[in-house]
Amino acid sequence: MQKIDIKSALTEKAEIVNARIKTVLEQWKGIPGKLAEAIDYVLASPGKRVRAALVLWCCELVAGRENEDALNAAAAIEMVHTYSLVHDDLPAMDDDDFRRGRPSCHKAFDEATAILAGDALLTMAFELIAKNISSADKAVLMTKELAQGAGPCGMIAGQIADILAQNIKPDAQMLEFIHINKTAKMFQASAVLGAIAAGADEKQKEILASFGLTLGLGFQVADDIIDVSSTSQQLGKTAGKDAKQGKLTYPAVFGLEESRKKAQQISRKAAEILEPFGGRAATLKELALVLVDRNR
Ligand code: IPE
Ligand code: IPE
Ligand code: MG
Ligand code: MG
Ligand code: MG
Repeated sequence: MQKIDIKSALTEKAEIVNARIKTVLEQWKGIPGKLAEAIDYVLASPGKRVRAALVLWCCELVAGRENEDALNAAAAIEMVHTYSLVHDDLPAMDDDDFRRGRPSCHKAFDEATAILAGDALLTMAFELIAKNISSADKAVLMTKELAQGAGPCGMIAGQIADILAQNIKPDAQMLEFIHINKTAKMFQASAVLGAIAAGADEKQKEILASFGLTLGLGFQVADDIIDVSSTSQQLGKTAGKDAKQGKLTYPAVFGLEESRKKAQQISRKAAEILEPFGGRAATLKELALVLVDRNR
C-alpha cells in the first residue's frame, strides 16, 4: 500500500480552505472598518485548519471526493473555531496575548473589538451555511449539528467547565467532560458536516460522528501535552500556561508520560472506529495518528 504523506496532505487541504474562506468573505459587503479588519486579521492568521480538513476527508470517504458543500461547511467550521479562540484568549477567559504566532485579537485591536469579531464570526458561519449549501435539507442538518457542537451543551459547556475547574483538585471525570465538550464536539460536528455534504446514510454518519468525537478528545489531550513540552515559538501561543493557571489538564491529572500513552490509545481507538470503511479510511486513520503526536 502506498504510504500517505499526511503532513503534505494537511497543508494542501489548509490551502484549499484558506482560499475558500477568502472567497466566501466577499459575500459580506459593508462590514464596518474596524470590525472588518479584526475579522480579516483572525481569519487570515495561520491556523492548522485540521477541523476543515476533517470535513473534507469525511466527505471524500463517503462520496469519493470533496464537493462545494463540504468546502463551504469547512469554511463555516473554521469561522466558529476561530471565534472560539478569539474569545478563549480574552482576559476574562484564558488571558492569552499570542495566537497563531501573532498578538491575539484583543491585543492587536481591543477587547470590545475582539468580543464583537467573535460574535460576528459565529453568526457569519450560520449565514454561510444558510446561503451556500446546495439544498435546504442539507443546510438544516448542518445547522443543527454545528449548533449542537458549538452550543451550550457542546463547546460552550466545555469552556465554562474549564474556567470553573481552574485550581480544583485532580478530577478525571470532570477532565473528560471538559475535553469532550470544549474540543471533541466541534471535531464531531466537523466529521458529520463532511458526511452530510457527501449525502451519507445514518450508519455512515454515526460512525463518523464517533470517530470525530474520539479524534477530538485525542487532539485536546495532545494540546495539553504540547502546552508542557513545546516552546511558545513552536506553538505560536504561550507555552506553559495551563499549569500557571491551574487548568485541569491530562498532564495535571495523569502526568506527562501517562498522558502520552492515553493519547496514543485514544488515537488507536479512533482508527478502529473506521474499520467498517476498510482501506478507504487510510487517510483519516493516519490523521488520527499525527494529531495526537504533534508538537504544534
Ligand atoms: C486550538 O486548536 C484549541 C484547541 C481546541 C486545542 P488548534 O490547535 O486547532 O488551533 P489552530 O486553529 O491550529 O490555531
Ligand atoms: C480551547 O482550549 C478550546 C476552545 C474551545 C477554544 P485551550 O484553552 O486549551 O486552547 P488553547 O491552548 O488556548 O489553544
Ligand atoms: Mg481555554
Ligand atoms: Mg486557551
Ligand atoms: Mg490548550
